[in-house]
Amino acid sequence: PIYQGARFLTAAARLEQCPVDQGREVAFSGRSNAGKSSVINTICHQNALARTSKTPGRTQQMVFFQLDDSRRLVDLPGYGYAKVPEALKRDWQTQMSAYLEQRRSLVGLVLVMDIRHPLTEFDQHMLRWGGRANLPILALLTKADKLKSGAVRTAERMVERVVTAEQEANQVATFSSLRRHGVGVVHHILDRWLEI
Ligand code: GTP
Ligand code: MG
Repeated sequence: PIYQGARFLTAAARLEQCPVDQGREVAFSGRSNAGKSSVINTICHQNALARTSKTPGRTQQMVFFQLDDSRRLVDLPGYGYAKVPEALKRDWQTQMSAYLEQRRSLVGLVLVMDIRHPLTEFDQHMLRWGGRANLPILALLTKADKLKSGAVRTAERMVERVVTAEQEANQVATFSSLRRHGVGVVHHILDRWLEI
């Protein structure tokens, strides 16, 4: 029930604009258009909590959603969007590494990847940042409805090898916002991170 009750809290372009760094929060990161905002909506059983779009680069700020007085979900801006100018990309890198390294209430990172294109260069960047920050990562392979079940399992095994080699606490799961597949697994992992 805690996820169903999620509501928009605030959006922040920089670390200083984030809500008070208390309690626990889980952030969702991933390539532009990977399906991050859709995952948040699906696990919260809401259609329009996080804004989704066919146009990559929809989410350009860190968007905070409140679960209760001490717990939050964070939709991070998508990366790797080609049309974003170089200077903005550099700024994004600075802001994201600052957020991951300095945010004390951050207890886990969901790395959302399109199951057809997992582990891009940027994804591997995030994996290394997470490892350096001792932050557990759930590699969430979404849009699983786009592949046959055999290919889904093959991708899952391959990604599992890579992410657990980076950090033993890392996990992998498959997901589909379209079919609402994987919601229970994500709740289970987030429950433990957020101590629900
Ligand atoms: P940015 O905010 O731009 O970084 O994108 P995002 O990662 O938040 O992606 P978003 O959730 O907006 O989804 C991007 C597109 O993928 C939309 O057209 C969604 O409808 C579609 N999509 C998301 N999840 C799924 C899924 O599980 N299956 C299918 N088939 N399409 C999906
Ligand atoms: Mg988004």
